Amino acid sequence: MNPKVSIVIPTYNEVENIRLILEELRRCLEDSGIHDYEVIVVDDDSPDGTWRVVEEVSRSDPRVRLVRRIGVRGLGTAIVRGLQEAGGEYVVVMDADFQHPPSLVPRLVETAVRFNADVVVASRYSRGGGITGWSLARRVVSLGALLLAWILVPESRRTRDPISGFFLLRRRSLDLSGVRGLGYKVLLEVLALNPKARVVDVPYLFKPRRAGSSKLGVDDLMLYIVQVLSVSSMVRFAIVGVTGIPVNLGVMALALTSGAPVDIASLAGIEASIAWNYTWHELWTFKTTFKGGLRGVVGRYVGYHISVALGALTQYATMRLLYTLLGLNPLLGQLVGIILGFIVNYTLSRERVWR
Ligand code: GDD
Ligand code: MN
Repeated sequence: MNPKVSIVIPTYNEVENIRLILEELRRCLEDSGIHDYEVIVVDDDSPDGTWRVVEEVSRSDPRVRLVRRIGVRGLGTAIVRGLQEAGGEYVVVMDADFQHPPSLVPRLVETAVRFNADVVVASRYSRGGGITGWSLARRVVSLGALLLAWILVPESRRTRDPISGFFLLRRRSLDLSGVRGLGYKVLLEVLALNPKARVVDVPYLFKPRRAGSSKLGVDDLMLYIVQVLSVSSMVRFAIVGVTGIPVNLGVMALALTSGAPVDIASLAGIEASIAWNYTWHELWTFKTTFKGGLRGVVGRYVGYHISVALGALTQYATMRLLYTLLGLNPLLGQLVGIILGFIVNYTLSRERVWR
Protein backbone atom coordinates (compact mmCIF):
# COMPACT_ATOMS: atom_id res chain seq x y z
CA MET A 1 0.00 0.00 0.00
CA ASN A 2 1.24 3.47 -0.81
CA PRO A 3 1.81 5.85 2.10
CA LYS A 4 -0.17 9.03 2.49
CA VAL A 5 2.82 11.37 2.52
CA SER A 6 6.24 11.10 0.87
CA ILE A 7 8.97 13.50 1.90
CA VAL A 8 11.78 14.01 -0.60
CA ILE A 9 15.06 15.35 0.75
CA PRO A 10 17.91 15.99 -1.70
CA THR A 11 21.30 15.91 -0.01
CA TYR A 12 24.88 16.65 -0.83
CA ASN A 13 27.36 16.73 2.06
CA GLU A 14 24.84 17.07 4.86
CA VAL A 15 26.40 14.59 7.26
CA GLU A 16 26.07 17.00 10.17
CA ASN A 17 22.37 17.61 9.53
CA ILE A 18 20.88 14.45 8.11
CA ARG A 19 20.43 12.35 11.25
CA LEU A 20 18.88 15.23 13.15
CA ILE A 21 16.53 16.24 10.35
CA LEU A 22 15.26 12.67 10.03
CA GLU A 23 14.67 12.49 13.79
CA GLU A 24 13.00 15.88 13.87
CA LEU A 25 10.75 14.97 10.95
CA ARG A 26 9.65 11.76 12.60
CA ARG A 27 8.82 13.63 15.80
CA CYS A 28 6.83 16.33 14.01
CA LEU A 29 4.88 13.87 11.88
CA GLU A 30 4.06 11.50 14.73
CA ASP A 31 3.04 14.41 16.97
CA SER A 32 0.56 15.49 14.31
CA GLY A 33 -0.83 12.01 13.93
CA ILE A 34 0.76 11.34 10.56
CA HIS A 35 2.19 7.82 10.83
CA ASP A 36 1.68 6.75 7.27
CA TYR A 37 4.64 8.34 5.53
CA GLU A 38 7.97 7.66 3.84
CA VAL A 39 11.12 9.75 3.64
CA ILE A 40 13.17 9.48 0.45
CA VAL A 41 16.67 10.88 0.70
CA VAL A 42 18.25 11.41 -2.71
CA ASP A 43 21.98 11.67 -2.17
CA ASP A 44 24.51 12.23 -4.93
CA ASP A 45 27.14 9.97 -3.42
CA SER A 46 28.24 12.66 -0.94
CA PRO A 47 31.97 12.42 -0.22
CA ASP A 48 31.23 13.13 3.46
CA GLY A 49 29.21 9.90 3.66
CA THR A 50 25.74 11.38 4.16
CA TRP A 51 24.30 8.34 2.40
CA ARG A 52 25.95 6.00 4.89
CA VAL A 53 24.05 7.64 7.74
CA VAL A 54 20.77 7.35 5.81
CA GLU A 55 21.47 3.70 5.10
CA GLU A 56 22.03 3.10 8.78
CA VAL A 57 18.85 4.93 9.83
CA SER A 58 16.81 3.07 7.23
CA ARG A 59 17.83 -0.25 8.75
CA SER A 60 16.00 0.56 11.97
CA ASP A 61 13.23 2.65 10.35
CA PRO A 62 11.90 1.16 7.09
CA ARG A 63 10.00 4.38 6.35
CA VAL A 64 13.34 5.99 5.52
CA ARG A 65 14.64 5.14 2.06
CA LEU A 66 17.95 5.99 0.47
CA VAL A 67 18.41 6.69 -3.21
CA ARG A 68 22.12 6.96 -3.88
CA ARG A 69 22.96 8.41 -7.28
CA ILE A 70 26.45 7.71 -8.46
CA GLY A 71 28.17 9.77 -11.13
CA VAL A 72 25.44 12.43 -11.34
CA ARG A 73 24.98 15.71 -9.53
CA GLY A 74 22.33 18.35 -9.41
CA LEU A 75 19.63 19.50 -7.03
CA GLY A 76 16.96 19.70 -9.74
CA THR A 77 17.41 16.21 -11.12
CA ALA A 78 17.75 14.82 -7.59
CA ILE A 79 14.32 16.22 -6.73
CA VAL A 80 12.85 14.83 -9.96
CA ARG A 81 14.26 11.42 -9.08
CA GLY A 82 12.67 11.70 -5.66
CA LEU A 83 9.30 12.56 -7.21
CA GLN A 84 9.56 9.45 -9.39
CA GLU A 85 10.34 7.25 -6.40
CA ALA A 86 7.60 8.73 -4.22
CA GLY A 87 4.42 6.71 -3.80
CA GLY A 88 2.50 9.04 -1.49
CA GLU A 89 -0.69 10.87 -2.22
CA TYR A 90 1.17 14.02 -1.16
CA VAL A 91 4.84 14.64 -1.84
CA VAL A 92 6.75 17.24 0.16
CA VAL A 93 10.12 18.48 -1.07
CA MET A 94 12.48 20.04 1.48
CA ASP A 95 16.13 20.74 2.27
CA ALA A 96 18.19 18.83 4.83
CA ASP A 97 19.76 21.84 6.51
CA PHE A 98 16.86 23.05 8.73
CA GLN A 99 16.30 26.16 6.62
CA HIS A 100 12.96 24.52 5.92
CA PRO A 101 11.51 23.80 9.39
CA PRO A 102 10.31 20.18 9.70
CA SER A 103 7.49 21.40 11.94
CA LEU A 104 5.88 22.98 8.88
CA VAL A 105 5.49 19.67 7.02
CA PRO A 106 2.28 18.62 8.84
CA ARG A 107 0.92 22.13 8.25
CA LEU A 108 1.50 21.76 4.51
CA VAL A 109 -0.39 18.46 4.50
CA GLU A 110 -3.26 19.87 6.57
CA THR A 111 -3.47 22.89 4.27
CA ALA A 112 -3.62 20.68 1.19
CA VAL A 113 -6.47 18.70 2.71
CA ARG A 114 -8.41 21.68 4.06
CA PHE A 115 -8.20 23.78 0.89
CA ASN A 116 -8.27 20.89 -1.55
CA ALA A 117 -5.02 22.26 -3.00
CA ASP A 118 -2.87 20.63 -5.67
CA VAL A 119 0.21 22.60 -4.69
CA VAL A 120 1.04 24.07 -1.28
CA VAL A 121 4.01 26.42 -1.20
CA ALA A 122 5.95 27.16 1.97
CA SER A 123 6.42 30.84 1.24
CA ARG A 124 9.01 33.29 2.47
CA TYR A 125 7.40 36.16 0.63
CA SER A 126 3.88 35.93 2.03
CA ARG A 127 2.68 38.07 4.92
CA GLY A 128 3.95 36.38 8.08
CA GLY A 129 6.88 34.80 6.29
CA GLY A 130 10.44 36.02 5.94
CA ILE A 131 14.13 35.39 5.66
CA THR A 132 16.78 35.70 8.34
CA GLY A 133 20.52 35.42 7.96
CA TRP A 134 20.87 36.31 4.31
CA SER A 135 23.37 38.87 3.02
CA LEU A 136 22.06 41.83 1.07
CA ALA A 137 23.53 40.32 -2.11
CA ARG A 138 21.65 37.06 -1.63
CA ARG A 139 18.41 38.96 -1.00
CA VAL A 140 18.83 41.01 -4.14
CA VAL A 141 19.55 37.90 -6.21
CA SER A 142 16.45 36.23 -4.82
CA LEU A 143 14.26 39.24 -5.60
CA GLY A 144 15.73 39.36 -9.11
CA ALA A 145 14.91 35.69 -9.59
CA LEU A 146 11.41 36.35 -8.31
CA LEU A 147 10.90 39.25 -10.72
CA LEU A 148 12.18 37.23 -13.68
CA ALA A 149 9.75 34.42 -12.90
CA TRP A 150 6.89 36.88 -12.44
CA ILE A 151 7.47 38.48 -15.82
CA LEU A 152 8.28 35.42 -17.91
CA VAL A 153 6.24 32.67 -16.28
CA PRO A 154 2.73 34.08 -15.70
CA GLU A 155 1.59 30.67 -14.42
CA SER A 156 3.84 31.21 -11.41
CA ARG A 157 1.87 34.22 -10.19
CA ARG A 158 -0.44 31.98 -8.19
CA THR A 159 2.08 31.94 -5.36
CA ARG A 160 4.14 34.69 -3.73
CA ASP A 161 7.21 32.42 -3.67
CA PRO A 162 7.46 30.44 -6.93
CA ILE A 163 11.19 29.90 -6.35
CA SER A 164 10.70 28.21 -3.00
CA GLY A 165 12.54 24.92 -2.49
CA PHE A 166 9.95 23.85 0.11
CA PHE A 167 6.57 22.74 -1.23
CA LEU A 168 3.93 20.03 -1.36
CA LEU A 169 2.47 18.41 -4.47
CA ARG A 170 -0.68 16.33 -4.72
CA ARG A 171 0.53 13.76 -7.19
CA ARG A 172 -2.70 12.55 -8.73
CA SER A 173 -3.93 15.99 -9.78
CA LEU A 174 -0.68 17.13 -11.38
CA ASP A 175 1.13 16.28 -14.56
CA LEU A 176 4.71 15.78 -13.45
CA SER A 177 5.88 13.87 -16.50
CA GLY A 178 7.35 16.96 -18.17
CA VAL A 179 9.31 18.12 -15.12
CA ARG A 180 12.98 17.77 -15.97
CA GLY A 181 14.84 19.53 -13.18
CA LEU A 182 17.13 21.30 -15.58
CA GLY A 183 17.73 24.08 -13.06
CA TYR A 184 17.04 23.71 -9.37
CA LYS A 185 13.67 25.48 -9.23
CA VAL A 186 11.49 22.45 -9.67
CA LEU A 187 8.42 24.21 -8.28
CA LEU A 188 8.56 26.76 -11.09
CA GLU A 189 8.49 23.96 -13.67
CA VAL A 190 5.56 22.29 -11.93
CA LEU A 191 3.60 25.58 -11.93
CA ALA A 192 4.42 26.28 -15.58
CA LEU A 193 3.33 22.80 -16.65
CA ASN A 194 0.14 22.79 -14.56
CA PRO A 195 -1.58 26.13 -15.20
CA LYS A 196 -4.89 24.91 -13.80
CA ALA A 197 -3.54 23.58 -10.51
CA ARG A 198 -4.90 25.06 -7.29
CA VAL A 199 -2.08 26.71 -5.35
CA VAL A 200 -2.10 27.79 -1.69
CA ASP A 201 0.70 29.53 0.24
CA VAL A 202 1.75 28.88 3.83
CA PRO A 203 4.12 31.56 5.20
CA TYR A 204 7.26 30.59 7.07
CA LEU A 205 10.54 32.01 8.28
CA PHE A 206 13.60 30.86 6.33
CA LYS A 207 16.41 30.53 8.86
CA PRO A 208 20.19 30.22 8.55
CA ARG A 209 21.65 26.80 7.89
CA ARG A 210 22.19 24.67 10.99
CA ALA A 211 25.55 23.29 9.81
CA GLY A 212 27.60 22.94 6.63
CA SER A 213 27.49 25.33 3.71
CA SER A 214 25.33 26.17 0.69
CA LYS A 215 25.98 24.20 -2.49
CA LEU A 216 24.47 26.69 -4.87
CA GLY A 217 26.76 28.96 -6.84
CA VAL A 218 26.94 31.28 -9.81
CA ASP A 219 26.54 28.33 -12.21
CA ASP A 220 23.18 27.58 -10.64
CA LEU A 221 22.09 31.17 -11.18
CA MET A 222 22.88 30.90 -14.89
CA LEU A 223 21.06 27.60 -14.99
CA TYR A 224 18.08 29.27 -13.34
CA ILE A 225 17.86 31.77 -16.19
CA VAL A 226 17.99 28.92 -18.71
CA GLN A 227 15.29 27.12 -16.74
CA VAL A 228 13.02 30.18 -16.69
CA LEU A 229 13.45 30.74 -20.42
CA SER A 230 12.84 27.08 -21.19
CA VAL A 231 9.57 26.91 -19.26
CA SER A 232 8.39 30.42 -20.09
CA SER A 233 5.09 30.52 -21.93
CA MET A 234 5.73 34.24 -22.37
CA VAL A 235 8.90 33.51 -24.36
CA ARG A 236 7.07 30.95 -26.51
CA PHE A 237 4.24 33.44 -26.98
CA ALA A 238 6.68 36.09 -28.18
CA ILE A 239 8.45 33.72 -30.58
CA VAL A 240 5.15 32.70 -32.15
CA GLY A 241 4.11 36.34 -32.36
CA VAL A 242 7.26 37.25 -34.28
CA THR A 243 6.78 34.39 -36.76
CA GLY A 244 3.26 35.70 -37.32
CA ILE A 245 4.63 38.94 -38.80
CA PRO A 246 5.91 37.47 -42.12
CA VAL A 247 2.72 35.43 -42.38
CA ASN A 248 0.61 38.56 -41.97
CA LEU A 249 2.62 40.64 -44.47
CA GLY A 250 3.10 37.71 -46.86
CA VAL A 251 -0.60 36.99 -47.18
CA MET A 252 -1.36 40.70 -47.53
CA ALA A 253 1.26 41.10 -50.27
CA LEU A 254 -0.11 38.05 -52.07
CA ALA A 255 -3.63 39.46 -51.91
CA LEU A 256 -2.46 42.87 -53.15
CA THR A 257 -0.57 41.43 -56.11
CA SER A 258 -3.59 39.38 -57.09
CA GLY A 259 -5.61 42.59 -57.25
CA ALA A 260 -7.50 42.60 -53.95
CA PRO A 261 -8.47 45.99 -52.47
CA VAL A 262 -6.24 47.27 -49.68
CA ASP A 263 -8.81 46.70 -46.92
CA ILE A 264 -9.48 43.11 -47.92
CA ALA A 265 -5.76 42.41 -48.26
CA SER A 266 -5.06 43.90 -44.83
CA LEU A 267 -7.82 41.90 -43.14
CA ALA A 268 -6.72 38.71 -44.92
CA GLY A 269 -3.20 39.23 -43.59
CA ILE A 270 -4.49 39.86 -40.10
CA GLU A 271 -6.75 36.81 -40.11
CA ALA A 272 -3.97 34.60 -41.52
CA SER A 273 -1.63 35.64 -38.71
CA ILE A 274 -4.32 35.09 -36.09
CA ALA A 275 -4.92 31.57 -37.43
CA TRP A 276 -1.18 30.92 -37.60
CA ASN A 277 -0.50 32.23 -34.10
CA TYR A 278 -3.49 30.40 -32.67
CA THR A 279 -2.31 27.09 -34.10
CA TRP A 280 1.16 27.39 -32.59
CA HIS A 281 -0.21 28.61 -29.27
CA GLU A 282 -2.44 25.55 -29.20
CA LEU A 283 0.36 23.15 -30.14
CA TRP A 284 3.30 24.76 -28.39
CA THR A 285 2.79 27.87 -26.24
CA PHE A 286 0.01 26.53 -24.04
CA LYS A 287 0.04 22.88 -25.19
CA THR A 288 -3.73 22.66 -25.05
CA THR A 289 -3.40 20.45 -28.15
CA PHE A 290 -6.94 19.59 -29.27
CA LYS A 291 -8.16 19.32 -25.67
CA GLY A 292 -11.94 19.01 -25.56
CA GLY A 293 -12.14 17.89 -29.19
CA LEU A 294 -13.58 20.05 -31.94
CA ARG A 295 -15.75 22.03 -29.52
CA GLY A 296 -12.76 22.83 -27.34
CA VAL A 297 -10.68 23.99 -30.28
CA VAL A 298 -13.46 26.11 -31.81
CA GLY A 299 -14.21 27.62 -28.40
CA ARG A 300 -10.57 28.56 -27.86
CA TYR A 301 -10.25 29.83 -31.43
CA VAL A 302 -13.22 32.16 -30.98
CA GLY A 303 -11.95 33.17 -27.55
CA TYR A 304 -8.55 33.97 -29.01
CA HIS A 305 -10.18 36.21 -31.62
CA ILE A 306 -12.02 38.10 -28.91
CA SER A 307 -8.86 38.65 -26.88
CA VAL A 308 -6.85 39.92 -29.86
CA ALA A 309 -9.73 41.86 -31.45
CA LEU A 310 -8.63 45.26 -30.18
CA GLY A 311 -5.10 44.70 -31.40
CA ALA A 312 -6.37 43.55 -34.78
CA LEU A 313 -8.57 46.62 -35.06
CA THR A 314 -5.60 48.82 -34.14
CA GLN A 315 -3.57 47.15 -36.89
CA TYR A 316 -6.16 47.69 -39.54
CA ALA A 317 -6.99 51.28 -38.48
CA THR A 318 -3.30 52.24 -38.39
CA MET A 319 -2.70 50.86 -41.88
CA ARG A 320 -5.83 52.55 -43.23
CA LEU A 321 -5.00 55.91 -41.63
CA LEU A 322 -1.38 56.00 -42.80
CA TYR A 323 -2.51 54.96 -46.27
CA THR A 324 -5.27 57.56 -46.58
CA LEU A 325 -3.53 60.47 -44.86
CA LEU A 326 0.07 59.99 -45.93
CA GLY A 327 -0.26 57.71 -48.90
CA LEU A 328 2.10 55.31 -47.13
CA ASN A 329 2.72 51.94 -48.75
CA PRO A 330 -0.02 49.68 -47.27
CA LEU A 331 2.45 46.93 -46.37
CA LEU A 332 4.57 49.41 -44.43
CA GLY A 333 1.42 50.75 -42.78
CA GLN A 334 0.45 47.21 -41.84
CA LEU A 335 3.87 46.68 -40.21
CA VAL A 336 3.46 49.83 -38.11
CA GLY A 337 -0.03 48.57 -37.28
CA ILE A 338 1.34 45.22 -36.17
CA ILE A 339 3.66 46.94 -33.72
CA LEU A 340 0.91 49.17 -32.28
CA GLY A 341 -1.49 46.23 -32.24
CA PHE A 342 1.01 44.21 -30.26
CA ILE A 343 1.26 46.96 -27.63
CA VAL A 344 -2.53 47.15 -27.36
CA ASN A 345 -2.83 43.38 -27.00
CA TYR A 346 -0.02 43.21 -24.50
CA THR A 347 -1.39 45.91 -22.23
CA LEU A 348 -5.12 45.22 -22.57
CA SER A 349 -5.64 41.58 -23.40
CA ARG A 350 -2.75 39.76 -21.78
CA GLU A 351 -4.70 38.53 -18.79
CA ARG A 352 -7.42 37.11 -20.99
CA VAL A 353 -5.00 35.13 -23.12
CA TRP A 354 -3.37 33.61 -20.04
CA ARG A 355 -6.44 32.75 -18.05
N1 GDD B 1 21.24 15.30 -4.30
C1 GDD B 1 21.69 16.55 -4.32
N2 GDD B 1 22.52 16.93 -5.36
N3 GDD B 1 21.34 17.43 -3.37
C2 GDD B 1 21.82 18.69 -3.43
C3 GDD B 1 22.67 19.14 -4.45
C4 GDD B 1 23.03 18.19 -5.46
O1 GDD B 1 23.77 18.48 -6.40
N4 GDD B 1 22.98 20.43 -4.22
C5 GDD B 1 22.33 20.78 -3.09
N5 GDD B 1 21.65 19.73 -2.60
C6 GDD B 1 20.81 19.67 -1.38
C7 GDD B 1 21.49 20.20 -0.14
O2 GDD B 1 22.19 19.19 0.54
C8 GDD B 1 20.30 20.71 0.66
O3 GDD B 1 19.67 19.68 1.38
C9 GDD B 1 19.37 21.21 -0.40
O4 GDD B 1 19.70 20.52 -1.60
C10 GDD B 1 19.47 22.74 -0.63
O5 GDD B 1 20.80 23.08 -0.97
P1 GDD B 1 21.53 24.36 -0.33
O6 GDD B 1 22.92 24.33 -0.80
O7 GDD B 1 21.28 24.40 1.13
O8 GDD B 1 20.73 25.50 -1.07
P2 GDD B 1 20.43 26.98 -0.57
O9 GDD B 1 20.04 27.01 0.87
O10 GDD B 1 21.54 27.85 -0.97
O11 GDD B 1 19.15 27.31 -1.47
C11 GDD B 1 17.87 27.11 -0.94
O12 GDD B 1 17.08 28.24 -1.15
C12 GDD B 1 16.58 28.43 -2.45
C13 GDD B 1 15.67 29.60 -2.45
O13 GDD B 1 16.34 30.78 -2.57
C14 GDD B 1 17.22 25.86 -1.52
O14 GDD B 1 16.09 25.53 -0.73
C15 GDD B 1 16.69 26.02 -2.90
O15 GDD B 1 15.95 24.87 -3.25
C16 GDD B 1 15.81 27.22 -2.90
O16 GDD B 1 15.31 27.41 -4.18
MN1 MN C 1 20.20 25.61 2.35
